[in-house]
Amino acid sequence: MSTSAISISRNRLDGKVAIITGGASGIGASTVKLFSEHGAKVVIADIQDDLGLDLVKNIDHPNVCYIHCDVSRETHLMDLIDSTISKYGRLDIMYNNAGIMDGFGASILTSKKEGLDKVLGVNLYGSFFGAKHAARVMLPQKQGCILFTASVCTLIGGIASHPYTMSKYGVLGLAKNLSAELGQHGIRVNCISPSGVFSGMAPGLGGVRGVLMAEDVARAALYLASDDGKFVNGHNLVIDSGSSAVIGQPFHDQGF
Ligand SMILES: NC(=O)c1ccc[n+]([C@@H]2O[C@H](COP(=O)([O-])OP(=O)(O)OC[C@H]3O[C@@H](n4cnc5c(N)ncnc54)[C@H](O)[C@@H]3O)[C@@H](O)[C@H]2O)c1
Repeated sequence: MSTSAISISRNRLDGKVAIITGGASGIGASTVKLFSEHGAKVVIADIQDDLGLDLVKNIDHPNVCYIHCDVSRETHLMDLIDSTISKYGRLDIMYNNAGIMDGFGASILTSKKEGLDKVLGVNLYGSFFGAKHAARVMLPQKQGCILFTASVCTLIGGIASHPYTMSKYGVLGLAKNLSAELGQHGIRVNCISPSGVFSGMAPGLGGVRGVLMAEDVARAALYLASDDGKFVNGHNLVIDSGSSAVIGQPFHDQGF
């Protein structure tokens, strides 16, 4: 590989400004690291202030900062976008990644509205308002990339709770619809749908052979956010070693 090819592959987000919600932990934190290594200015948006500020300290790069933001509150997302514009003057990548999971296995008969509101409030409404306020500043730029973390539960039934599954199907529907509205203005909108990832949300997956790591998802986000993915719009990028394609074969038995 020539020197110029190496430098291009190392600076795939040079000069871009990115916001990553849920950036203090797991997939978000890995993506913060990877995006900043590739030259992006990154704003970590989360509710875990200590974790977010520790990450800024550990990365120790002037182009990474933390802003407290509860994505279930539209005013927080509005302020997050406005603060990013005040600091950096533009927004190129909005990664709506923050999410919560509720207990799996509960019957619909025992499900309560409060539980549904909580999961939809973060996973779906948070994504909706994150995209809305990102679009507000991306439309005049005529350029941008909006990403969402959905889940492999958008392909397979019965692997997550009803509220969580509903929230991720909603996110996927939103991404597809937005790709139609915003695509004509140069803004690409895509989803990433991982299977089980070892993270703060799924600590039990630690040590499981062949399980997805947060870094694997971060690399997919880098592809979609960079010019490598410049013709990809309205796509659901499934990262599951084929577990949703190969019926009955757990992904960790496929040699990945
Ligand atoms: N871990 C998995 O197995 C898995 C699989 C598929 C999809 N996902 C999705 O990946 C995304 C990231 O999850 P993760 O696995 O990295 O888990 P994680 O728990 O490590 O990270 C989630 C982050 O979201 C933040 N968050 C939660 N509520 C928030 C709110 N109201 N406002 C702002 N931030 C908030 C948390 O503080 C945390 O930092 C989520 O959307 C999740 O649904 C995870």
